[in-house]
Amino acid sequence: MNRLLCETADVPDGGKLALQPEGSPELVVFNISGTFYVLADTCSHGAAALSEGDLIGCEIECPLHQGRFDVTTGAATRRPAKKPQPMYRCQVEDGRLYLIDADESADAKTA
Ligand code: FES
Repeated sequence: MNRLLCETADVPDGGKLALQPEGSPELVVFNISGTFYVLADTCSHGAAALSEGDLIGCEIECPLHQGRFDVTTGAATRRPAKKPQPMYRCQVEDGRLYLIDADESADAKTA
């Protein structure tokens, strides 16, 4: 079952929102030109919250070592970050953003 994350209006274009849904790691939602992306909030390089960094175009800059990630792919785009940032599938329905559960994501990939 998909889980409600937030109202889409809670994340304006070019904005971000930190969330921790029950049973999930800390997440951060980005809105890039009306498309929503959900990533793990804890940087893959260390103990920093990407939600506290600056969003520059479609890249989030980590506040600790200034590594960067492309929020549309999770790819590390500037060192010292090297490992991609985990991403989560989501969908918008009736003005709300939902996290697609892992089982359904796996089904969707094979459908
Ligand atoms: S903790 Fe994010 S780049 Fe080092």
